[in-house]
Amino acid sequence: MAMEMLDEIQKLKEEATASLSGLKTPEDAENFRLQFLSRKGSLAQLFERLKEIPKADNPAIGISLNELRNLLESEFESARKNLASSKKVSISSVDLSIQGRKRYVGRKHPLTQTAEEIKRIFKSIGFGIADGPEIEDDYHNFEALNFPPDHPARDMQDTFFVKDDGGKYVLRTHTSGVQIRVMENNKPPVRVIMPGRVYRNEAISARSYCLFHQVEGLYVDKNVSLAELKGTISYFAKEFFNAEAKLRFRPSYFPFTEPSAEVDVNCFVCGGKGCRICKYSGWLEIMGCGMVDPNVFKYVKYDENEVSGFAFGMGIDRLALLRYGIDDIRLFFENDLRFLNQF
Ligand code: PHE
Repeated sequence: MAMEMLDEIQKLKEEATASLSGLKTPEDAENFRLQFLSRKGSLAQLFERLKEIPKADNPAIGISLNELRNLLESEFESARKNLASSKKVSISSVDLSIQGRKRYVGRKHPLTQTAEEIKRIFKSIGFGIADGPEIEDDYHNFEALNFPPDHPARDMQDTFFVKDDGGKYVLRTHTSGVQIRVMENNKPPVRVIMPGRVYRNEAISARSYCLFHQVEGLYVDKNVSLAELKGTISYFAKEFFNAEAKLRFRPSYFPFTEPSAEVDVNCFVCGGKGCRICKYSGWLEIMGCGMVDPNVFKYVKYDENEVSGFAFGMGIDRLALLRYGIDDIRLFFENDLRFLNQF
């Protein structure tokens, strides 16, 4: 009985020291403690059995059992300390030369950038900015701009009508309706630009899309002349394109301006010699403009004998295509980051 007990103490000693040397994690240490040192662990079980050993054999066994307990407890304690301190990351295990993770930086859409540049230029010469609804009534989109109902001029703009309203509402075909809203709500003088999204029922192609963006301009005061219109637009073109920009005004027709013109800038790609971008004409069309038709003043209750004014409207998308040399307008609406990240 006593010999057996001494054998078991020896066996436990070997087993426990072997497993102590294999401790790698705090969990291993806890498992070791449960297996060997806890109140129900192997060591405690041997102490339990000590009680059954006849007193005469007791001292030797008791001594070696106590020695084993002291040994295991102190070895366990130092093994646990080593594990705890190795948990602290030592500098040598961090690779300081490794590259950081690159953060994705977004950017403004090329149309937003173009619109902001246009706004910056007009703000610098005293224009304010106004806004209007994209779902517009027929009155503001057409009638008050001197497009009588059934007038063929309405065919110039292929319109999306909003259903179930008897044709009373449309997706605005241009920003010119905002001119009317601004004049209805403000006494002259007015000097504003009106950027925004517009819609036309165009066949979608590289050159046209069912929605695009315009910036409208309106200046009304006493004695505003065509010379001021030309001066304002040529200042804009020099700022937006380059200081050498030359302009050409071609007579045109818009119901709400008289006289009306379309404005071309000499092609900045080929310098006017003729290239693919300007379709070998040397000129790029950039906007429509004209002197506000007196009939329009009647609609907004301005005295057409007191005031005069000019208006202009340009396509933001078109200016962005020209400026960045992009050949397909649909790219602006596809939200493909491979395209957008280039600007
Ligand atoms: N609204 C016109 C268009 O969309 C452009 C324009 C605006 C012309 C202002 C003259 C004056 O075609």
